[in-house]
Amino acid sequence: MTHIRSILAGVGGYLPERVLTNDELARTLETSDAWITERTGIRQRHIAGPKETAAFMGTEAARTALADAGAAPAEVDAIILATSTPDQAFPATALRVQAALGVPGGFGFDLSAACAGFIYALSVADGLIRAGQVRGVLVIGSEVYSRILNWQDRGTCVLFGDGAGAVFLRAGEGSGTDRGILSTHLHAQGTQGDILYVDGAVGRPDRSGHLVMNGREVFRHAVTRLAEAVDEALAANGLTRGDVDWLVPHQANLRIIDAMGRKLGLPAERIVVTVDRHANTSAASVPLALAEAWHDGRIRRGDLVLLEALGGGLTWGSALVRM
Ligand code: UT7
Repeated sequence: MTHIRSILAGVGGYLPERVLTNDELARTLETSDAWITERTGIRQRHIAGPKETAAFMGTEAARTALADAGAAPAEVDAIILATSTPDQAFPATALRVQAALGVPGGFGFDLSAACAGFIYALSVADGLIRAGQVRGVLVIGSEVYSRILNWQDRGTCVLFGDGAGAVFLRAGEGSGTDRGILSTHLHAQGTQGDILYVDGAVGRPDRSGHLVMNGREVFRHAVTRLAEAVDEALAANGLTRGDVDWLVPHQANLRIIDAMGRKLGLPAERIVVTVDRHANTSAASVPLALAEAWHDGRIRRGDLVLLEALGGGLTWGSALVRM
C-alpha cells in the first residue's frame, strides 16, 4: 500500500563571500591553526557581511532549492525556517523569505532548536505533508552566528560560521523504503540547557546575547546521543548500517563526525564533511552539506541518506531519506 510521502525535490545552499581563516583569527586571539585543526577539523569559516542576514541567505538558499526542483513560488504552501539568529523578533524570518521569493500565499514560521533546527523543521514539514495539510514546503536553516559570538572567547568563537541551506519538499506517493523521507526522530533534554546557550534575547536585553558553551560536556553528549539516534533510525526502518549510502551529519567537530562514521561502518568517502571549510553553521550545517554533495554529484537519486544533528537545548534528532 502506498502513502503520502515527502519527496526531497530540490536542495540549495548559500555561503557569504567573506572567508575567515584560522591564521587570521590567530592574529588577534591566543589560538593557532594547529590547535583549531587538530581539535575540530576546522580550517576556515564564512562570515556574513552587513546585508547577509538570516532572511537574505535563507532566501538565496531557497531560490536554489526551488530551481533545483523546477518549482514555482506558487507551489510553496509553507515555509519553515530554523534559526537562532533571526533578523527580527517578528515578523518571522520565514515570512521575509516568503516576500522576497514572491510566494503568493500559504503560511510560514521560524523554529528554534539550535543546531538540530533543520532536523526539527524537516520533521514538522514531513508531518504536515503526511497529514495532507500542505503539498509543497520550503525547509530552511539559516544562521549568522558571527553576530552572537563573543569574539574574545577562543573556546567558542573559532568554532562557528555563517550560511544557509534549504530543501523543497513535495508531496508524493511511496511505500517501504521508496523515495522520500522514511522517518524522523526528535529528542530534547531541557535539563541540559546550561551546557550550550545564548545569554540573552529580546526578552532579556540585560544579558550579553553571546553564545556560551561547555565544549567538553557537549562533546560527550553528542557522541552518545547521536550514536543512539543512528541506531533508532535504522531500527525504525528495519535497516542495518550497511544499507546507508551516505551520512550527512551536523558539522560541529570532525572527531564527532568520525565517531558516527565508525558507528555506521561507513568509509570516509561516504560521509559528507564541510566542517573544514564552513565550521559549525548550526541549523544551516546539515542542509548546506547536503546541498554540496547533491550538486557536485556525489549523492544521487535513489541513495539512502542519514541526516543527524545535536545542539543547544539539548536538542537532537535524525532523518532518514531516500533521495
Ligand atoms: O553545534 C553544537 C554542538 N557543538 C559541539 O558538538 C561542540 C562539542 N565540543 C567540541 O567540539 C570540543 O569540546 C571543543 C572543540 C569545543 C574543545 O575541544 P576539547 O578537546 O574538548 O578542548 P577543551 O575544551 O578540553 O580545552 C583544552 C585546552 C584548554 O586549555 P587547558 O585548560 O587544558 O589549559 C583550553 O583553554 O585548550 C584550550 N583552548 C584553546 N587553545 C587554543 C580552548 N580553545 C582554544 C583555542 N585555541 N581556540
